[in-house]
Amino acid sequence: MYKTSLKPTAHIVPDRGWLNDPNGLCLFRGVRHIFFQYAPEYPAPGPKGWGHYATRDYKNYIFYGMALSPDNELDKNGVYSGGAIEKEGILHLFYTGNVKLEGDYDYISSGRLATVFSVTTEDGVHLSPKRVLLKNEDYPPYYSCHVRDPKVWREGDEYFMLLGGRTRDDKGALLIYRSTDLENWSFYKDEIFPGFGYMLECPDRISLGGKTVWSFCPQGVKEEGENFRNLFSSGYCIGDICRSNYVEWDKGYDFYAPQTYVDGGRVVLVGWAGIADEKLPYTYDCSLKEGWIHCLTTFRELTLKNGKIYCFPVREILSLAKGYSRVNRTSLSTCFAKIASKPGTKVTLGGCFEICVGADGINFAFIRDGFGRQPRKLSVKAEELFIFLDNSIAEIYINGGEYVFTARIFSGGGGLLCEGAAECLISGVEEFNYEKADGDR
Ligand code: FRU
Repeated sequence: MYKTSLKPTAHIVPDRGWLNDPNGLCLFRGVRHIFFQYAPEYPAPGPKGWGHYATRDYKNYIFYGMALSPDNELDKNGVYSGGAIEKEGILHLFYTGNVKLEGDYDYISSGRLATVFSVTTEDGVHLSPKRVLLKNEDYPPYYSCHVRDPKVWREGDEYFMLLGGRTRDDKGALLIYRSTDLENWSFYKDEIFPGFGYMLECPDRISLGGKTVWSFCPQGVKEEGENFRNLFSSGYCIGDICRSNYVEWDKGYDFYAPQTYVDGGRVVLVGWAGIADEKLPYTYDCSLKEGWIHCLTTFRELTLKNGKIYCFPVREILSLAKGYSRVNRTSLSTCFAKIASKPGTKVTLGGCFEICVGADGINFAFIRDGFGRQPRKLSVKAEELFIFLDNSIAEIYINGGEYVFTARIFSGGGGLLCEGAAECLISGVEEFNYEKADGDR
């Protein structure tokens, strides 16, 4: 059990060092595997690879340490992000090997190798040797060296691999390769999207409620009113990929690089509760005095309702609540709060956030003090707020997940205070149990 003060107790955190994107998410032989971008030596220089947690019940977790490390000439600067798929009882994991060549390069148009690798496993833990599937020369010549983050899906007897890319003239793009055996891949098609910045990372393709949903992380989307306020965006399009169809997954400060998987008829999404290249002062650094940085969001079930995707914690996570009691103030640092809003409702957490419900809806303002960032505002009609507070992360679900707002919070609690709500139910959260798998790795 982690007992440090900033470490969330019911979210995936690194045991030490750095975590970013969730990788290789899957339900395989009754076990959910959660791999993630992991640099255990951070902030000291060291390898970046895939860390690995596994759980059967979303409550008890085994930590296997580093599952995939950079160990060859084509992935020596990082085992980067990718996904998983099962075929005939074997789990296949795909990733991008990152290499920065030594020399005078800009590392955009030259100097970087992006190689797609795969490994397989029969038990989810012991991995086969690495196999090279695609190299820079397999991408169309109008691409820069930024092509990465393979995610594979199946359609009939064929498999398709989605990759995110940046063209030489700085446009975000998606590349699709096809295969019948998961080993031999050929270029199928690509699409270059104007209006989505200069690079798309971490693409995903989801089947939800009979629709095809494309998820991706465009870098460089221009802010529009209350939308796209993150330096790096992350959202989805239902059906056609175009700017007018693009919806952000999360309206908070800290959400990026989500990945989905199918879990017993449900589609579940997990994101990195952080964001790349945030400008200094680096908001998250304060957890480094405890020797770790970043966490994942909780597991969010996706539902398609009236042409919109709702995200809400899976029922197993909700069952961590110890039972609701009817209070309107809590100093618990780990809790669920469900608040039926009516005009005049005000919810605050120390100096971290303030939610005010006005006569015609909600005026949501998130102020993370000390870092000089503009408050996040959202004007929507809100009937219900659901807050999952876990030490240094707050996930706020509005109207059962119609809008979600994720942020890391570091200003030291003070407790949730909720005034004027129609109803306010607050409960404690049981801690996750993280068991270390000694000897396995
Ligand atoms: C997104 C990302 C991916 C890359 C990984 C490296 O956060 O930049 O595109 O594979 O992080 O850690």
